[in-house]
Parts: sequence; C-alpha cells; structure tokens
Amino acid sequence: MQAIVMTETGAPEVLVPHDVDEPRPGDGQVVVRAEAIPVLYPETMVRAGAYPFPAPLPAVFGFQAAGTVVELGAGVDPALLGARVVTDTGGFGAYAEFVVTATDSVAVIPDGLTTDLAAATQMPGSVALALVAAAAPAPGETVLVEASATGVGSCLTQLCAARGARVIATAGGAEKARLARKHGAAEVVDHSVPGWADQLRELLAGNTVDVVFDSIGGDSLTPLLDVVTPLSGRILSYGWLAGAPAQLGAVDLILRGLTLTGCAGTAWLGEVARQRPAALEAAAQGLLTIGVDSVLPLTEAAHAHRKLENRTALGAVLLRP
Ligand SMILES: NC(=O)c1ccc[n+]([C@@H]2O[C@H](COP(=O)([O-])OP(=O)(O)OC[C@H]3O[C@@H](n4cnc5c(N)ncnc54)[C@H](OP(=O)(O)O)[C@@H]3O)[C@@H](O)[C@H]2O)c1
Repeated sequence: MQAIVMTETGAPEVLVPHDVDEPRPGDGQVVVRAEAIPVLYPETMVRAGAYPFPAPLPAVFGFQAAGTVVELGAGVDPALLGARVVTDTGGFGAYAEFVVTATDSVAVIPDGLTTDLAAATQMPGSVALALVAAAAPAPGETVLVEASATGVGSCLTQLCAARGARVIATAGGAEKARLARKHGAAEVVDHSVPGWADQLRELLAGNTVDVVFDSIGGDSLTPLLDVVTPLSGRILSYGWLAGAPAQLGAVDLILRGLTLTGCAGTAWLGEVARQRPAALEAAAQGLLTIGVDSVLPLTEAAHAHRKLENRTALGAVLLRP
C-alpha cells in the first residue's frame, strides 16, 4: 500500500512516499481504509524533532485518519465492519492507505457529517471542548482566544461565543481576522503586528480578560498578565506556536492571583479523547463549523506540512490516499 514514511526528523522533505506492507489487525484492533487524513500542527513539531517520535525511524508517519473499517481483529464487535470512523493512532501509522488502530481509539462518524469534515473536526473540536470544560467561561466573561484562525482556535471562538462570552480573538492579517469575526469574535487583534498586547490593552479600555486560551506561548504571555482579571483570571496553556511553552514563573501568577492550567501530557490527552464523540456530534449538528482549506493527494504530505508552517492554510489541510 501507499504510505508516507518519516526517514528522520527534520524539514518536510523527511516525509517520503513509499510502498509498504498493509497492516493486519491484532486482538482488539481494526483496519481502517483511510479516506481523509488531517494534517495537524503538532505533527509538524514531531516531524521537526521538537518531540521524540514514538517509534524507531524510519516509520509510517501520522496521528489520525478517517475512513471505513475494512477488517476486524479478534474480540472486536462485528457491527464495526463497514462503519465510517475517525481514529487516533496514538502517534504513527496514519498517513497511509490502511491504518491499524485499537477499537478504543475509534469513534463512529454520525450521520450527516462527511468523512472529510469528521477528519477535520476530530482534533480541534475535541481539544476545544476539553479546554472549554476546563475553563468554564461564563456568559458575559471576556475570553481571549489566541491564534483563532487555527483549527483549535476557531472551535474555541465558536464555543465561547455560543456560551455568551465576549470573545476577543487574535489572528494574523485581515482575512484571518474576518474568519474570526465570522466564528463569533466580537473583536480581533492582529498578532502579526509587534506589540499586539498594547492593541489589546487599548481595546479593553481598563477592563480585563477572564480567560486566556494560550496557544502561542513563548514570551507572548508576559505582557498580557496585567490585563487578566486579578484573583479569578484563568490562563490555559495548550500550545506553543512561538516555539516554546509560555515562559512564566510561579511568582508572575502568585502576585496577581492568577491560575495557569497546563493542558498537555497523557492525562490531558485522555480528556481530549473523551470529548471526541461530542465534537463529531457538534459538527454534525452544525454547532461547530470547520473549514477545509485543501484536500491533497497523500503523496503531497511534505507540501501539506509546508502549508501549515508557512501559515497559508485557511482551514484544515487533508490528505487523500
Ligand atoms: N494541548 C493539546 O491537546 C493540543 C492538541 C492539538 C493542538 N494543540 C496546539 O494548538 C495549536 C493550534 O493547532 P492547530 O492544529 O489547530 O493549528 P493549525 O490549524 O495548523 O493553525 C495554523 C495557524 O497557526 C497560526 N500560527 C502559526 N505560527 C504562529 C505563531 N508563531 N504565532 C501565532 N500564530 C501562529 C497561523 O495563523 P496566523 O496566520 O493567524 O498567525 C497558522 O495559519 C498549536 O499550538 C498546537 O500545537 C494542542
């Protein structure tokens, strides 16, 4: 079968199309014929070597896929054969025509949701629902969604606006700002302009932000600390688009009475996985809208990674075997 093999960590060119053996299901596993494979920002970081790859290299790359169950291992419910599903492989094996996966990593796609949209929704919808559950933004609270044109950011914007929060979004450029407004942001700050925290401060005119969903990280949070509501302000750190997690010390938080919740690691990913069916259902019901930027042939995986890294995608990038 056709698959994308990661030969080493590095630039997108380490993702190389190859013919490899089709996987066979073990006990409690199924084989999914992949029809849409989402290209995810965290995958670009793993490929680049920011995280260890969870298997010896070379290996078939890719975290998630959507498609049809075509083969069952021992002990699997026969009703799954032929079902349309999304799956999370736990780290590798998804950029391929056929993907082997444990049944507890599979969720059935609800009627009314296309396989492409299910692939595009699985990760950002589940992460955003887990973040909103952790932050519990109340109606009337002010929420800052950083990088709202990302998959996760666009879902957060929609979910928080639907809860009656005032959403201030950040985005890079006018087109992505328009998208943020379409998803429910009341105001947008352009994070591609240096010193955007000053723009935010002016916009707030002395008011404060109750919840910060931080996906940029690095030193971007430091200038924001004094606009977060003292004593009740919650910061949720879940991404580091700037290349490093939020560079904050405990004293920064203690002196202002702020809470920082780290949203990464194994236990957190368990919370995210629990939200998967709800995310698919929300998309099926039109409560979450995920845009698809492009559907590329599987062999163009390296090009897809470049699209994410150079910020040109407006919505999900999918690969099709
Ligand atoms: N903790 C978790 O469970 C978890 C799970 C999945 C993803 N994440 C994190 O969530 C974030 C979004 O992931 P995604 O897959 O939804 O992203 P995505 O859809 O691939 O978004 C890509 C967009 O990110 C923005 N961006 C890139 N570099 C940036 C920077 N240095 N500063 C500000 N914005 C930047 C760009 O938009 P602009 O042009 O508007 O800047 C770019 O178009 C990432 O940090 C990712 O690692 C966390």
